[in-house]
Amino acid sequence: MVKQSKSSQKSKPQAQAKEAVAAANAVELLTAEHGEVAELFDTFESADTAEQQGLAEQICRKLTVHAQIEEEILYPAAKDLLEDDDVDLVNEAAVEHATVKDLIVKLEDMDATDEFYKATVTVLGEYVKHHVEEEETELFPLLQDSDLDLEAMGVELAGRKQELMAELGTDMAAIPGKRTERDVRDPVQAGR
Ligand SMILES: [Fe+2]
Ligand SMILES: [Fe+2]
Repeated sequence: MVKQSKSSQKSKPQAQAKEAVAAANAVELLTAEHGEVAELFDTFESADTAEQQGLAEQICRKLTVHAQIEEEILYPAAKDLLEDDDVDLVNEAAVEHATVKDLIVKLEDMDATDEFYKATVTVLGEYVKHHVEEEETELFPLLQDSDLDLEAMGVELAGRKQELMAELGTDMAAIPGKRTERDVRDPVQAGR
């Protein structure tokens, strides 16, 4: 489904610095992230209440970073190269991100004991699943058929992701009562 990567371009200094975190092209990287989040949503559904808040916080952080790198890097590039009809697809994706972020804000204001907490995470999961299907079946194939340099974009996405994760980790640590990335161990990863 995903085209094989061309040999990576290492001529740019930025690319050299980031190559350690850029093992995938843009579509591969984003698709892998979709899979990780889907797995976390599955884990959440079967987790006990004590684990659910940590999992939900982890899901929200991953989604926040994922949405931001798509909005900063992928969507503008897609809009530049796609035809008008297909640009609608990108605009719809951006609107869907706004809904995802609204649900994340709601969750951040909720305690895990709230009667709607689990339901909100479940609805977020269903919504993200729908959004991801559209990206993977409609948007990504268009990009794979285009002249877009998915290798270079993979490097850019991975670099920006690292930056945002570091920023988010710092912010989380600064908020009393909020657990940091280090505190919230991923039960999925830990079980591997
Ligand atoms: Fe997206
Ligand atoms: Fe995505």
